Amino acid sequence: MKKIIVIPGDGVGPEVTDSAVKVLKKIDEKFKIGLEFETRYAGGAAYDKFGEPLPAETLDACKKADAILFGAVGGKKWDNLEVKFRPEQALFGLRKGLGLFANLRPVKVYDALIDGSPLKPELVRGGDLLIVRELVGGIYFGDRCESEIYNGVERAWDMENYSVPEVERITKLAFDTAKLRRGKVTSVDKANVLSTSRLWRKVVGEVAKNYPEVELNHLYVDNCAMQLVLNPKQFDVIVTSNMFGDILSDEASVIGGSIGLMPSASMGELTSFYEPIHGSAPDIAGKNIVNPMGTILSAAMLLRYSLQAEDAAKAIESAIDKTLDDGYRTADIFSEGFKKVGTKEVTEIICDRL
Ligand code: IPM
Ligand code: MN
Repeated sequence: MKKIIVIPGDGVGPEVTDSAVKVLKKIDEKFKIGLEFETRYAGGAAYDKFGEPLPAETLDACKKADAILFGAVGGKKWDNLEVKFRPEQALFGLRKGLGLFANLRPVKVYDALIDGSPLKPELVRGGDLLIVRELVGGIYFGDRCESEIYNGVERAWDMENYSVPEVERITKLAFDTAKLRRGKVTSVDKANVLSTSRLWRKVVGEVAKNYPEVELNHLYVDNCAMQLVLNPKQFDVIVTSNMFGDILSDEASVIGGSIGLMPSASMGELTSFYEPIHGSAPDIAGKNIVNPMGTILSAAMLLRYSLQAEDAAKAIESAIDKTLDDGYRTADIFSEGFKKVGTKEVTEIICDRL
């Protein structure tokens, strides 16, 4: 049996993970993988029940599992809690606790949705890029100070640091991935200003020597942000630090039309972790309108990377393609002339096409 820990979390998390589990169950009937699901608490839901965003029991269960399917965490209700109790801490605890140093965020442009892209169709048609974001280092995990008095005034600070091994492992993963794609890596930094970026650029250059078949270029992050909207098809694999990857992946996610379709995989030392890149979207939670495709496509990545079930992953991806080609749209991607469907309905429609 293959054990999958399901963490619905907050906001729309329970709806989208429900949908993805339905799809996975249908896949299991067809492909006989032997999937077993167990649900665990994290985020605001865990705080309400156990008084902490990441109960030790959740992390332990994740460590022992074959894969983790995650919804989203966060919401207004918990915004004013002390930092250590906030729902986001569950994500950081899971990332650190599982050593998830690499976050893969593929951006694929669907022909059927091209009119939903904020960019001109000819700029994006056929676009297919992958952001590889470092996930357990940098400014997210450096020392910080919420408030101190310095020279008579209040200030706060966050420290960014990267070690050579940290940059090496994420770079290797990016190059290994590029070899299986179109063989191009763009490393993104701010080496004209930051010491961490200069180290980053040096280490990436060293690692690249072992991959003569992969083409490498370096971009400053400000330029990369511009290039993503000027000419997104120049990119194959982008490798970058935790914070730059956070920002650029939100920007890149809309190239294909909607953040609602974007999956992600986080991998590292222990169990890999799969989640949609949209957040908990509390304003639309519980209304049966959220697009579950990002989570369903994350489930496809789970099958591909954690269970080596490539055929099953492809079956999900082509069921999503067919659903879009057949004109079904959730609210986030709806436009005149298409068939508007809710979360549950679109899940059924996808299951019927598996
Ligand atoms: C993401 C999210 C998180 C991050 C937030 C919720 C802390 O934006 O996964 O991209 O910044 O890493
Ligand atoms: Mn983000």
